[in-house]
Amino acid sequence: MSSQAIRVGLLGIGTVGSGAFTVLKRNQAEIMRRAGRGIEITHVADLDVARARAIVGEGVEVVADGFELVRHPDIDVIIELIGGYGIARQLVLEAIEHGKHVVTANKALLATHGNEIFRAASRRGVMVAFEAAVAGGIPIIKALREGLTANRIDWIAGIINGTTNFILSEMREKALPFASVLAEAQRLGYAEADPTFDIEGVDAAHKATILAAIAFGVPMQFERCHVEGITSLQSEDIRYAEQLGYRIKLLGIARRRELADGSGGIELRVHPTLIPSRRLIASVEGAMNAVWVKGDAIGHTMYYGKGAGAEPTASAVVADLVDITRMFTSDPGNRVPHLAFQPDALSDIRILPIDEIESAYYLRMRVADEPGVLADVTRILADSRISIDAALQREAGEGENQTDFILLTHRAIEGRVDAAMARIEALPTVLSKVVRLRMEELS
Ligand code: HSE
Repeated sequence: MSSQAIRVGLLGIGTVGSGAFTVLKRNQAEIMRRAGRGIEITHVADLDVARARAIVGEGVEVVADGFELVRHPDIDVIIELIGGYGIARQLVLEAIEHGKHVVTANKALLATHGNEIFRAASRRGVMVAFEAAVAGGIPIIKALREGLTANRIDWIAGIINGTTNFILSEMREKALPFASVLAEAQRLGYAEADPTFDIEGVDAAHKATILAAIAFGVPMQFERCHVEGITSLQSEDIRYAEQLGYRIKLLGIARRRELADGSGGIELRVHPTLIPSRRLIASVEGAMNAVWVKGDAIGHTMYYGKGAGAEPTASAVVADLVDITRMFTSDPGNRVPHLAFQPDALSDIRILPIDEIESAYYLRMRVADEPGVLADVTRILADSRISIDAALQREAGEGENQTDFILLTHRAIEGRVDAAMARIEALPTVLSKVVRLRMEELS
């Protein structure tokens, strides 16, 4: 074992930062036996110097300015836990320029500026490790990049945002609307005061972008990820889905597609999705995360755990520190590539626009309760070569002359489904917009 400890500078000591500090200290001896060398947080930068000092105690240098750390000659590794892509990007790039390895939990930064950051890191021969950026404590990056490296990945489907999974679980269990569950989630601290990134699907899209890059060996392309959140999801669709044997989850999906013309494409999308209740991933409830991966050799494999929180996320941050410590003196050309594939072997396989994706669909519409209505609707679908898998019609209530009609389709190209929906909505007997949700069998 080397006697010289790895010296770490921590940028931002909030929830995850203090978790990392605590875990590293508590498991110091065990971690040293694994890493072969001590790992010490020697410097912390945080705007709230007094709070930071209270957390780390004496013996750790605390400053307000992160740039002091990224330029500091005595620091080997920088942990970036500031978040966002403004100052965090500058700090990470400057740390790399100064030859420091970087550990980050910042999915927004990697999904939007990852290509630039990894290029800079490769040029400078340093590592940028980011296990904590996707699904918190679940070692999904390691699993995809190393454990599953023999596989051609077919698809990934992940519950990768705990806030929205908590909200959807509560909506289903308590039959409550989105707005009241969100308010409760904020009161309990499950949702942030400004929950926009979570509920609009942006956080999940950042993570899905990173997963797709690693799974398929493509550059980060967040701008091509289709993003829909859960804000317009209605409780009645959760209920109808359940009657049909499905649960609705906000999934991040990255899927390889062979196209009719023989070329290939990737679907990259985040949206509420019906999945069969019998699938293991449908039972992932509350704020838990899970990532389901299908590879050609392994078949189906699922990774489950806490996607947020101080120590679960710190578990990933510290694992990255150990990895970096082990690889510290290795030849940069022999390290595991950042995006699993060698940087000069990344592919330009196309991310498909949303109207070219293929999915099964749940369609709900309000219809007049009179002869021929269903025949008209199903005729339009038949004309559009969209095959129906199941149908559910609620009995009209006492004195009502209209009712809900729900259809599940087989897989079809989305553009074709949208065109059929427009024709259905034009029928005089269809009294509402058609609610369209995507559905995945995950088989
Ligand atoms: N806000 C995220 C979630 C956790 O709710 O899962 C951090 O990525």
